[in-house]
Amino acid sequence: MPKKKTILDLHKMKKSGEQAAWVTAYDFPTASFAEKAGMDMILVGDSLGMVVLGYHGTVPVTMEDCIRHCQAVRRGAPNTFVIGDMPFMSYQVSDEDAVRNAGRFLKEAEVDCIKLEGGVRVASRIKSINEAGIVVMGHIGLTPQSSGQLGGHKAQGRDIKGARAVILDALAVEAAGALCVLVEAVPPEVTAFLARRLSIPVYSIGAGRCDGQLLISADLLGRFEAFTPKFVKKYANVAEVETNAFKAYIADVKSGIFPGEEHVYRVLDPIEEFKALFDEYTSE
Ligand code: KIV
Repeated sequence: MPKKKTILDLHKMKKSGEQAAWVTAYDFPTASFAEKAGMDMILVGDSLGMVVLGYHGTVPVTMEDCIRHCQAVRRGAPNTFVIGDMPFMSYQVSDEDAVRNAGRFLKEAEVDCIKLEGGVRVASRIKSINEAGIVVMGHIGLTPQSSGQLGGHKAQGRDIKGARAVILDALAVEAAGALCVLVEAVPPEVTAFLARRLSIPVYSIGAGRCDGQLLISADLLGRFEAFTPKFVKKYANVAEVETNAFKAYIADVKSGIFPGEEHVYRVLDPIEEFKALFDEYTSE
């Protein structure tokens, strides 16, 4: 029986210098392929709003959306460390709301950890969720749910003032009890400093090398065409593969090539009996 990864394993990996590789997934098949490939962690990100549900951003995503997709991922990847992403307005109003909604991820979807965006300003949320016995991952730097305040999806910490803000956020997140932190779209020098300075694992999406790397599966698979951030490395072009397969299918249907002999179920009784049956129901 394969051993399920825990937060302790992730802390050991940081200590030994082993990089953690993780992706987002939102459905059963992607989760099972990721687990089969040996992925260390899976994030069921609220990016599902864009890459699965077709919204322009993450703000419309609901708790129900997140729970449903976390359940599918948990079924597909029973032995991988799964992180549920708290959607906009599931933790912004109060510590109580944050604990209740974080708890739903564990009770209803059996995730291993929840992630929420923000540093200093969500420290009390992280503290409350941690005190409820739930593993929390912080998310600092570019925080898409508050990208309006940041002036768009812009890299953070590129000047001294910005870097200081990122560092203060990281320290606040760790002090509040987060057991790991994700840094998004920050210069690699700042991220590397954080990985040395913090005792919890520091992970990157578009923030250079640290204790591990996250990419959005739809980006690395080439399955999301609206835009591709600078930090993405594309490992496949699934959109092209799918579109070409659909085109070939349409052509086969229109030309009558599909279905072929091999795609039908043969009758079990003599064909003459079927002909007689059809005659019975043939109107003059
Ligand atoms: O929702 C998500 O996929 C995320 C990543 C952008 C880090 O939070």
